[in-house]
Amino acid sequence: MCSLRVIFFFVAVTASIEATSFNVTQATLWWQTTTLYQIWPRSFKDSDGDGIGDLNGIASKLTHLVDMGVEVIWLSPFFASPLIDSGYDISDYLSVNPVYGTLDDFDDLIATANELGLKVVLDYVPNHTSDEHAWFNYSKYSVDPYTDYYIWNEGIEVNGTRNPPNNWLSVFNSGSAWEWVDERQAYYLHQFHVKQPDLNFTNELVIEETKEILTFWLDRGIYGFRIDSLPYLIEAASLADEPESGLDGYESTDYYYLEHIYTKDLQENYEIVQIWRDHIDNYTSVKGDGVERVMFTEAYANISSIMEYYDYGSHIPFNFFMIKDENGVNNAVLDTASEVVDIIVKWMENLPDNATANWVFGNHDNSRIATKLGEARVDAVNLLLFLLPGVATIYNGDEIGMTDTYLTWEETEDPQACSTDESRYESFSRDPERTPYQWDNTTSAGFSTNATTMLPVNSNYLTLNLAAQKAADISNYKNVQALIQLRNSTIIQAGNLNVQVISESVIAFTRELSDYQPIVVLVNWDNATAVTLSLEVFDSLPETLEVLIADINSGIAVGDQYAKTSIELPANAAIVLQGVEDTVSGSRTIRSSTTRYILGLICLLPLTYNHSPMLFT
Ligand code: GLC
Ligand code: MG
Ligand code: CA
Repeated sequence: MCSLRVIFFFVAVTASIEATSFNVTQATLWWQTTTLYQIWPRSFKDSDGDGIGDLNGIASKLTHLVDMGVEVIWLSPFFASPLIDSGYDISDYLSVNPVYGTLDDFDDLIATANELGLKVVLDYVPNHTSDEHAWFNYSKYSVDPYTDYYIWNEGIEVNGTRNPPNNWLSVFNSGSAWEWVDERQAYYLHQFHVKQPDLNFTNELVIEETKEILTFWLDRGIYGFRIDSLPYLIEAASLADEPESGLDGYESTDYYYLEHIYTKDLQENYEIVQIWRDHIDNYTSVKGDGVERVMFTEAYANISSIMEYYDYGSHIPFNFFMIKDENGVNNAVLDTASEVVDIIVKWMENLPDNATANWVFGNHDNSRIATKLGEARVDAVNLLLFLLPGVATIYNGDEIGMTDTYLTWEETEDPQACSTDESRYESFSRDPERTPYQWDNTTSAGFSTNATTMLPVNSNYLTLNLAAQKAADISNYKNVQALIQLRNSTIIQAGNLNVQVISESVIAFTRELSDYQPIVVLVNWDNATAVTLSLEVFDSLPETLEVLIADINSGIAVGDQYAKTSIELPANAAIVLQGVEDTVSGSRTIRSSTTRYILGLICLLPLTYNHSPMLFT
């Protein structure tokens, strides 16, 4: 009786840890396995001592980016702007804000990048301009052809008082998304800040303007765009009121007080995306250089809405599911290994055939990884980010584990926080992840010669900085370098993905390809308890594995070897292993796949479920 129970237990455990498998196809285009590094120009590097980062500052650091191993840099907006929303409020798409430099500086930056083999991608913000854009000024006075460049409405009169046409709210928690303009005797729509009027995407002339902007920058030698705020392009023509969301904790002027069924994720948005994709492809074919220009698209939405961007020409719709939940409202819950693995599986299962996967853990709109998930997990996250299939996007500073900076209410600039109040601004502010890059331990962390900077430098810069990490034997930065280098290997570029939670707290995946030694990534997501685990769930691994990369807190050394049936992982430890050739009398003893299949059937048949492999690049 007793032994029978043991047998049943064994079968159940074995069956429950069957890995979920996904096929990956060999990338054929340059961007499909690339690493995208996001630069926030305001806080990256100041070259002229005004305390604000600039283009020449970025240019002076390009060799460092090459040293890190990145291939593509995405520059957040540096265009003419009153900087109400850190430059996402553009008053001239075709010029550089003098704070950041000149168009010549930009051209020089591109020339240097080209010499170093770096590709540059720009942020394009189509949904809205600044209210200081010339188009808006003309539109305000109904000057053609600009009259209908924006979304104007006379509103409704209630008891002799004029009111906006509906209850729509601004994303930035400032109440109504409509603002009255005396000159025009009408309201304009602004889904974001009052100084960011929405363009009218039902107007052909507006769409033509967008293409010209793309061409202007493509002509200057860039390799594509990160396109901003796509879910907000088109609003329902009915102008119907939106229902209340019923979500707790929001005031009636807060964006999430309503459910945005008429202003977000409308089907018509995708057609605009396809127009840009066609335009960009057309550019490449006219140019005749065969180098594909790429669109990375920004949308926080549910999984089916995101995957649909692939169908309409987005090369990479950012995968934000490690950051936000399904609806983009709350932070993603990553408390357990299962929650992390579920997100990986959900993404891979929903990815369309032949689409390229991608992973994002941080950016300028969200709390930093080291703060949100813990400093001890910085390497762990980077192992996932860089070794899962497809494109990896990393936000500047995350490669050294920079943390959020506490800022007082007085220091806060972000309009999304400034529209709230002192008691709750912190949960809305994006400034903490936008403070100066920490280069070294000198004045202003080496960001600027000026002791006063656009946002204050985090006080931890004396010890947490790039120079210290370059000097140390082991560091987050050195691990990022090693990881990016490993991305160049065929096994990471084309190996199939098998993913599973092991021992309850370990996120485990392999990358496997016939004729190559497999790679195994193990992350103990538990921050208190060590585990000893066996990798038998990955049935094709050789008996012995060797550590290629180990996180800085694990105490595990590169080159250590383990038997696949007994690997001890301290709390929070994360390692990358590679199979070591099994040798018996000098010959390989990797079992044939038929033998493995039969053995697998005997062991697992009773309770195994199988995910049919799909094709992904
Ligand atoms: C995007 C940007 C964000 C900006 C908003 C409005 O979400 O990432 O920073 O505030 O669009 O342009
Ligand atoms: Mg400067
Ligand atoms: Ca819009």
